[in-house]
Amino acid sequence: MSSLRERLVERIRAHGPLTFAQYMEAALFDPESGFYTRGPGIGQGGHFATAAMAHPAFAAAIIAEAAATWEALGRPKQFRLTEAGPGTGGLARRVSEGLTSQGVPHELVLIELSTGLQARQRETLAGIEARWVEHPAELKPASGFLYANEVLDALPVRLLQWPDEVLVDADASGRLVETLQQAEPAIARLLSAQVEPRVGARYAVRPSMLPLVASLVGSVRRGRVALIDYGGVGTEVHDGRRPPVRTYIGGQQGGDPLQAPGTQDLTADVDFGALTDAAKAVGVEVEQLLTQPAWLRSHGWETPPADVRTEEDWALAGLLDERLPFMVWLARR
Ligand SMILES: C[S@@+](CC[C@H](N)C(=O)[O-])C[C@H]1O[C@@H](n2cnc3c(N)ncnc32)[C@H](O)[C@@H]1O
Repeated sequence: MSSLRERLVERIRAHGPLTFAQYMEAALFDPESGFYTRGPGIGQGGHFATAAMAHPAFAAAIIAEAAATWEALGRPKQFRLTEAGPGTGGLARRVSEGLTSQGVPHELVLIELSTGLQARQRETLAGIEARWVEHPAELKPASGFLYANEVLDALPVRLLQWPDEVLVDADASGRLVETLQQAEPAIARLLSAQVEPRVGARYAVRPSMLPLVASLVGSVRRGRVALIDYGGVGTEVHDGRRPPVRTYIGGQQGGDPLQAPGTQDLTADVDFGALTDAAKAVGVEVEQLLTQPAWLRSHGWETPPADVRTEEDWALAGLLDERLPFMVWLARR
């Protein structure tokens, strides 16, 4: 069977260059060989680890937000707990068990695009009643709490080299190479609405964020939505200096994004300014935008004193480190 790179080269030869977003979509979610489709190693020794598994503080804060939402809705009998992009399923298990132990009745729903990861989540969640969908549009709106950690950063980005767009082409020897064409006004506007771009600098923008966010918040009839990811607002993300797309393999920074599609993770920081604009466009009120450490502190977590830290305390100190660019975005319906 031909490799994903070979299939992409054939596709380019037949239909012309791909946008970087089309390339990223294939590299992460190609039905046979996508990095996420194949169910990447997540956690220690895997391709990446996230805050969700670093320390129980993270799950505890999600449980507290979900329980507060249930209280604010008047303790309904029907309450939907939804996690988008649940990775291993470990966080969903902790949150669902935490809510049950606090007497919060709930239906657990997981939104997961990767078939490989769905299988892993089913194993992790064995014994807990849950259902899976691939896309939030499959859900009938219901009251509840929806959360997602490190999902938006995996949404495909279009790549700009201002004022041009970087496309993915194939050379005569079958290598994937970059080519430039003038950026379409609608794509250029996604950036220029947030920052003043510098000629020749590189930026990543996410046209798919608005429809996904609309669909995620649209699945919550009344309740709250928490989206957590790395990034910042406007120029904090689009500084035009760092490579806007990063690759990871085995927990380390990977290689050229066009090399070996399907074998390395591709990710780009989330512009929470653009996220707020996307939410406003669908009439959603943003309640809070704060750093992950500030959010965890608001739930009572403090950095343990350095001289008496256990291994778990060090993990907590890591989550509470303000230098890490993680943000928590909360919206109400
Ligand atoms: C970086 S992992 C984060 C996993 C987990 N939330 C955690 O914190 O450990 C991204 C997850 O989102 C899923 N994902 C990415 N894009 C998605 C989309 N558009 N819809 C649903 N799931 C998506 C991936 O398959 C994976 O489960």
